[in-house]
Amino acid sequence: MTDAVRVENLSHTYMLGTPMEHQALHQVSLRIETGQCAAIIGHTGCGKSTLIQHFNALLRPQSGSLTVAGEDLGRPKLDVKAIRRKVGLLFQNPEDQIFEKLVGDDIAFGPYKQGLSVREVTERVKWAMEVVGLPFSEMKDRTTFALSGGQKRKVALAGVLALRPEILVLDEPTAGLDPKSRKDLLARIKDLNREEGLTVIFVSHNMEEVAYLADLVYVLADGSVAASGTPREVFSQPDLLQMHRIGMPETIEILHELNEAGLSVDPGVHDVDLAASEIVSVLPEREGE
Ligand SMILES: Nc1ncnc2c1ncn2[C@@H]1O[C@H](COP(=O)(O)OP(=O)(O)OP(=O)(O)O)[C@@H](O)[C@H]1O
Ligand SMILES: [Mg+2]
Repeated sequence: MTDAVRVENLSHTYMLGTPMEHQALHQVSLRIETGQCAAIIGHTGCGKSTLIQHFNALLRPQSGSLTVAGEDLGRPKLDVKAIRRKVGLLFQNPEDQIFEKLVGDDIAFGPYKQGLSVREVTERVKWAMEVVGLPFSEMKDRTTFALSGGQKRKVALAGVLALRPEILVLDEPTAGLDPKSRKDLLARIKDLNREEGLTVIFVSHNMEEVAYLADLVYVLADGSVAASGTPREVFSQPDLLQMHRIGMPETIEILHELNEAGLSVDPGVHDVDLAASEIVSVLPEREGE
């Protein structure tokens, strides 16, 4: 497997050389293979956004090395445009990413700049809006400034998807979405990753979502990698999670508590249906059944 992202000893200090100097990343090393879906989790301010802003060269490595889609992002003569075509980054704040007055124009901006024909751009916009759950004909002529927070996030994400990147980097993609939008969007992202082989890297504070989507989890704490592994491995360490102020998916938490209460259930199951089966398997058989 080739690496989509390889980070070695990456450090980053904001406002270097000023009294406000703050080191946000300390010697971070990690590896994400092409086609994987990786989650970056950790407490507020631990450096998640700082880290992923390096992946499309928004921030450049101050020290350490960083290779994304085969390109050394520390190279002084880096073709930043080429990297941004391969790596789509959804910002934590969608307002930072929406510039056009109309929804359709905003989503079309990237593909249009890539030099695609009007027909191709329209196809891309329709497809991207469908993926994020925005009805094309109803929403394309709406003004972007009057959208709700959740709608803005969907528009910003559609704009990133419309570029059809090889690597999709998402900073809290479902924050502020209603439960149905969240569920639908996660299912579509999962499809893009599992069916179309898109590499996905996402930041989230929602552990259900991490367990559902990720096949690899990196835990950041105070700018360093504190742990990594599959969701099952990471979520099986309650002490580690508590130390880094990270919750557990509720299904796993319930199964852990049942286990501690002496019931023999598998505490690593995060799928709701499987968790229900685990619980049913230890229930005493009811009379008459
Ligand atoms: N532009 C900046 N200038 C100075 N310091 C910054 C800047 N951006 C972030 N920081 C600081 O760097 C640290 C890491 O910030 P970052 O935004 O990467 O955290 P995060 O893990 O994404 O947090 P959250 O979960 O709240 O989004 C924080 O202490 C933050 O205050
Ligand atoms: Mg952040």
